[in-house]
Amino acid sequence: MMKKYSCILAVATTLLAGCLSTKKCFAQTIPSLKETFKKDFLIGTAMNGQQIEEKDTVADRLIKEQFNAVTPENIMKAEIIEPKWNSFNFDLSDKLVVFAAKNNIKVNAHNLIWHSQLPEFMRRMQSADSVKQYFEHHITTVAGRYNGKVYSWDVVNEALNEDGTLRNSIFLQKLGPDYIVQAFRLAQKASPDSKLYYNDYNIEQPKKRAGAIALIKKIQAAGLRIDGVGIQGHWRYDHVPMADIEESIKEFSALGIEVMFTEIDLGVLRNPWDNNTADVNATSKGDSTMNPYKNALPDSVAQKQAKAYAALFSLFLKYKKNVTRVTFWGVNDGQSWLNNFPIRGRTNYPLLFDRNFKPKPAFYSVIATVQDQ
Ligand code: XIL
Repeated sequence: MMKKYSCILAVATTLLAGCLSTKKCFAQTIPSLKETFKKDFLIGTAMNGQQIEEKDTVADRLIKEQFNAVTPENIMKAEIIEPKWNSFNFDLSDKLVVFAAKNNIKVNAHNLIWHSQLPEFMRRMQSADSVKQYFEHHITTVAGRYNGKVYSWDVVNEALNEDGTLRNSIFLQKLGPDYIVQAFRLAQKASPDSKLYYNDYNIEQPKKRAGAIALIKKIQAAGLRIDGVGIQGHWRYDHVPMADIEESIKEFSALGIEVMFTEIDLGVLRNPWDNNTADVNATSKGDSTMNPYKNALPDSVAQKQAKAYAALFSLFLKYKKNVTRVTFWGVNDGQSWLNNFPIRGRTNYPLLFDRNFKPKPAFYSVIATVQDQ
């Protein structure tokens, strides 16, 4: 295995190893995303546990060459970092911080408060007092440990419904609507040297966006610091809501905060709700039209996806004064959560690198947007 990797040349700019699936080893020089956009915004990727442990050699090399920001995909979520009450599992997040510092990469820590991926002990809590105690202790301990060691925090993740009202999470139920302001207050106190963000999906959509704006204004009105907002960006390649995204950049920037695109992936598969049904089972079983590219992504689709990515990055460049980071949700197509969400076991192709870490047409179209400026 090691021998295969040893023939990867260290080229000044960037190189790519296509050694994984083929016996033949080739090295190919490709441009670097972080270099290409260095005057514009940070370029990030989500990192999974294997990559953080430096067990995914090719991915780790690519991360160092292509990205200057990383977000842990799962390992800092509550169920992993505090699986039992006051029993913290900091091994991987400590490793991530060291890896990032060594390679000049900024860490966006994800996340402090979210309704999902909560530990069992917490999900079972009945009394408001217990939830309050957990909430304060969790934020204070985790944000305190990494104060200044991580560049930023997603303090609260996905607190809104599609209509802009607050999601009926355990936090809303037990702590009331001020829990979000309180999370920012606690995070600011524990982590004064890291930036503080609100992160959510679909907040480019008008109603949900209005909810996010109200929430951000409320934090600001309480005299607290909120440095930015993250729009996740899990869009289908042929349904990227460009006009809403542009309007969102304008409206969020008008609040005096950074705008980031934090979990970009442009999937190519249909989702159950595209057929006006929320029933995953209705369409998932025995329906091959839901998984049409099992063996390969057709060129025609790869080209259309490349165009969609180019349009998106051209828009980001138009607002480069306001957009501070663009992060992809995963390194290569095979590592994307979209292979298992919302239907398990499909073959999706949402990212810039294919399953062999080879740059796709979308990679080159994104790089080309800089020259078109
Ligand atoms: C996803 C991860 O990618 C998966 O591995 C995990 O099983 C579920 O969560 N919004 C977020 C991310 O803020 O944390 C989610 O990540 C994707 C949606």
